Amino acid sequence: MTVTLQTVAYLFASILFILSLSGLSSQTSAKRGVVYGIFGMILAILATVLGEKVEGHLFILIAIGIASIIGFIAARKVEMTSMPQLVAILHSFVGLAAVLVGVGSFLDHSIHVSSAAKIIHLVEVYVGIFIGAVTFTGSIIAWGKLEGKISSKPWQFKGLQYMNLMLVVAIALIGVFFCNANGNDATILLFIQIGLSCFLGISLVMAIGGGDMPVVVSMLNSYSGWAASAAGFMLSNDLLIVTGALVGSSGAILSIHMCEAMNRSFFSVIFASGNTKQNANVRVAIEGEALPINHEEVAENLVDAKSIVIVPGYGMAVAKAQYPIFQLAQSLISQGKKVRFAIHPVAGRLPGHMNVLLAEANVPYDIVCEMDEINSDMPDTDVVLVVGANDVVNPSAQDDPASSIYGMPVIEAWYAKKVIVLKRSMNVGYSGEDNPLFYKSNTRMLYGDAKESVEKLTKIIAEKSN
Ligand code: TAP
Repeated sequence: MTVTLQTVAYLFASILFILSLSGLSSQTSAKRGVVYGIFGMILAILATVLGEKVEGHLFILIAIGIASIIGFIAARKVEMTSMPQLVAILHSFVGLAAVLVGVGSFLDHSIHVSSAAKIIHLVEVYVGIFIGAVTFTGSIIAWGKLEGKISSKPWQFKGLQYMNLMLVVAIALIGVFFCNANGNDATILLFIQIGLSCFLGISLVMAIGGGDMPVVVSMLNSYSGWAASAAGFMLSNDLLIVTGALVGSSGAILSIHMCEAMNRSFFSVIFASGNTKQNANVRVAIEGEALPINHEEVAENLVDAKSIVIVPGYGMAVAKAQYPIFQLAQSLISQGKKVRFAIHPVAGRLPGHMNVLLAEANVPYDIVCEMDEINSDMPDTDVVLVVGANDVVNPSAQDDPASSIYGMPVIEAWYAKKVIVLKRSMNVGYSGEDNPLFYKSNTRMLYGDAKESVEKLTKIIAEKSN
């Protein structure tokens, strides 16, 4: 393939990626966005592999074949609830790839550049490896936290921020020496920076608490884009630069939106300075008693209610309860009740997690409301059904300054006349915080798997209406 044809193909692939991102911005066009992305990627791979200077096509084909099989099996096997972990581990691959491209590009003696260009090349290598290594280890820690292999409690010790700052300063200083060093000295300095950057990635993500993990996942998404872009500079590949910048900037925009949604400062999250809204040490004591309720009583409450709000959370995803919940909602709507779903922006474990699950169950968009739209309606709501949600309905985010989620906007379920919480036990949510909602006088706990409970409720309500 000639260079001109390759440039044209790269241009088309870039346009397809931009269309893909714009398609992904709304639920109705998301499928189209994914299709654009697939075609963009096929075009990008073909144009690169068939490029003029590329050799060893057989090896490339074997590598693509093996990777495609692994990717296909992983994507088919992964449960929807494990998607965030898959995304996190895929980010780590991008980071590792950027590190390997950087080291390869540094050790490649066929790259001859003049003195000024040499400095630019070394800076590209150094910065690319830095971003790649932070993304690599940070993503592995994020994977561990999401998978439950590493505690979601944040690393907190005196001097943590200073340590991170010192690491960044040390990495920058080593970079200056690296650009002026030759031979083995330069190689040793490069490997020292890889070690320090890897440690920085670990330390930055270990310092983030469970409640702030959504921002970390989207930040790592952004870092992986910048790492790919840096690899593009090292390989002089325009498409990789553009694609990396698209992923990097869209990830950064998503992170800023997530921070706004969670009332967090963007910089306090990326510099791992914890929840700056949390400003007390002594916890507000939880008062009251968590009272159980049975399915029969919940069904009666629903039949008597005129206005019902369903708040889904991570537990709905675990239980795969989205289909029976929509069935329950349909049967209540058919009895003339006003039924709506209230979606918190960080409910579940992925941005838009609940929207995806409800769309999968064909819940119409007009009964799916954002948190801000529905909070003011809570006092006029007869029953709020909390289905496997916990942190996103935790009032301590508003009234306990010592809580790690203090300051995060939440769905104000407790203002409704009655709150029914469907979960299996009194276990805490992802942030590790107790939930005073469960102890309020207007709350009742319906223990059990969300799917089984909802199916039972639908059956009882159907029997009652016959
Ligand atoms: P969580 O606070 O994680 O609570 C989920 C609840 O579901 C648990 O308390 C659990 O209680 C219950 N549950 C689990 N399996 C269940 C089942 N089969 N049936 C019924 N209940 C079940 O969920 P949330 O309210 O959606 O909040 C999300 C949390 O994750 C936030 O802290 C958020 O910051 C964090 N996070 C979000 C993201 C994104 S991007 N959305 C990414 C990473 C982290 P039992 O064990 O008692 O049943």
